[in-house]
Amino acid sequence: MQIYLDTANVKEIQEGANLGLIDGVTTNPSLVAKEGRSFKEMLLEICKMVDGPISAEVVGVESEAMIKEGRDLAKVHKNIVVKVPLIPEGLRATKKLAAEGIRVNVTLCFSPTQALLAAKAGAWCVSPFIGRLDDKGVDGMELIRDIRRVYDNYGFATNILAASIRSPEHVRQAALA
Ligand code: G3P
Repeated sequence: MQIYLDTANVKEIQEGANLGLIDGVTTNPSLVAKEGRSFKEMLLEICKMVDGPISAEVVGVESEAMIKEGRDLAKVHKNIVVKVPLIPEGLRATKKLAAEGIRVNVTLCFSPTQALLAAKAGAWCVSPFIGRLDDKGVDGMELIRDIRRVYDNYGFATNILAASIRSPEHVRQAALA
């Protein structure tokens, strides 16, 4: 099991990195906007602090724009994983970027069937949003267990990145799944 920090704040990342237990970092446009800095400059700094997968999200909503942004972000550092939203255009972009050898984190996953499509598109990892489902009265952790089962059923190598984690209990259940 790997542990990722979900932040673009370099002070927080440095504190996590100092513990020696952090495997990677995930960012998203809201987290990046909060910092008010150049995206690429920030990514490079993060890559120097944590030697592991660093997710950087595209902001385009059409596949061509996502592909262009994804290629550009992947050039920043070998550890960059391009993050795209789980929408039809995002799946198109995933297929293309994955075929070029670029690792893709397909985010905003809310169902096992969406996760299945992400895996078929060649996602390196899928990010199901646990807390956001809990907010709606749906058991987010059930989604993690379902995706694990679907991927095992068909031998998909796509990693499951439990996202929108809100509590130690989420971590415990994710570890068990
Ligand atoms: O990476 C997803 C995450 O940033 C969303 O978390 O807590 O805002 O639902 P949260």
